[in-house]
Amino acid sequence: MPTLPTGQAGGRQAIWHNYPMIITTKELFAAAYRKFSLGAYNINNLEQIVGLFRGNRDSKAPFIIQISKGARSYTDKTLLEALIRQCGTLFPDLLFAVHLDHGDEQNCHDSIDSGFYSSVMIDASMEPFEKNVEITKRVVEHAHAKGIRVEAEIGQLGGVEEHINVDEANAHLTDPAQAKEFVEKTGCDSLAVAVGTSHGAYKFSGSQKIHFNRLQEIAAALPGVPLVMHGSSSVPQDEVAKIEAAGGKLSGAKGVSEGDLEKVYEYGVVKINIDTDGRLIWTRVHREYFRDTPKGIDLRDPGKVFMQEYAKFIAHKNEIFGSANQLEAVRALL
Ligand code: G3H
Ligand code: 13P
Ligand code: ZN
Repeated sequence: MPTLPTGQAGGRQAIWHNYPMIITTKELFAAAYRKFSLGAYNINNLEQIVGLFRGNRDSKAPFIIQISKGARSYTDKTLLEALIRQCGTLFPDLLFAVHLDHGDEQNCHDSIDSGFYSSVMIDASMEPFEKNVEITKRVVEHAHAKGIRVEAEIGQLGGVEEHINVDEANAHLTDPAQAKEFVEKTGCDSLAVAVGTSHGAYKFSGSQKIHFNRLQEIAAALPGVPLVMHGSSSVPQDEVAKIEAAGGKLSGAKGVSEGDLEKVYEYGVVKINIDTDGRLIWTRVHREYFRDTPKGIDLRDPGKVFMQEYAKFIAHKNEIFGSANQLEAVRALL
């Protein structure tokens, strides 16, 4: 059984000795900072995992694979972990980090102890500032003792965040001075910032947009601190149209324009979170399959199409984020 290396991550440090392709988020961020952003993709099942690995192989990109609390409890968390490890073996030339997305304190401690994760996100952003600091500090202490990195969040995105509905009026942009104080007090390694994006398929219903001025102010207050943008799906309108043509109802669905994400690495954004766009591809492929193949009963038929379409999507996003063709540059730094 592979064992976890002890001490702080630094230099070449594989999380699993037998899986050297799983690297620390620290190593990835060091390579990417202000040069490109990494796609951080949520996965829930076999087909998504295979499509994700194929897309990153095809675009020669380092990446972050992330597992939410809901994904961990969908079947049994160890099944997803086993699939990821096995894909690591099947795609030995890739480099990636494994990240817990939107963990509560208990999820974080469990994930740190599991020895599987490169990094965890503690999301206590719904708590008052001091409580957020207190919880985040406890997670940082535990994680750092095991060489694992911690993403924390300050400010609140709109949309649905782990079953908490945050409406536009209650979404709070990250305050730069508070962000600086938060990072200093908690020692977190990266910071998720609220700059106008929101989770889910219905972003920007009113006058919302990415607040680049705010992003710039946060970056200036936190030089050298890797920033993370959640809620960054683009909700492609052709995808929405195809889903509606196949019986879905998604009117008003809207996302972040891809052009807005192309250069966010210049503001220190190293990680861009994408989940909803993958769900849309799954929905489109399966709705079209059942519409066009009323007698079809073989789940592998839409599954094959989905894996291919998802791989194409991942390769495309990596081009937008600038992580495509960065695999060898990252490897050279290890
Ligand atoms: O930000 C939340 C992610 O999209 C994960 O969603 O909690 O439904 O897995 P989930
Ligand atoms: P989207 O809902 O925009 O895909 O955001 C995903 C996310 O932030 C996961 O943490
Ligand atoms: Zn998120």
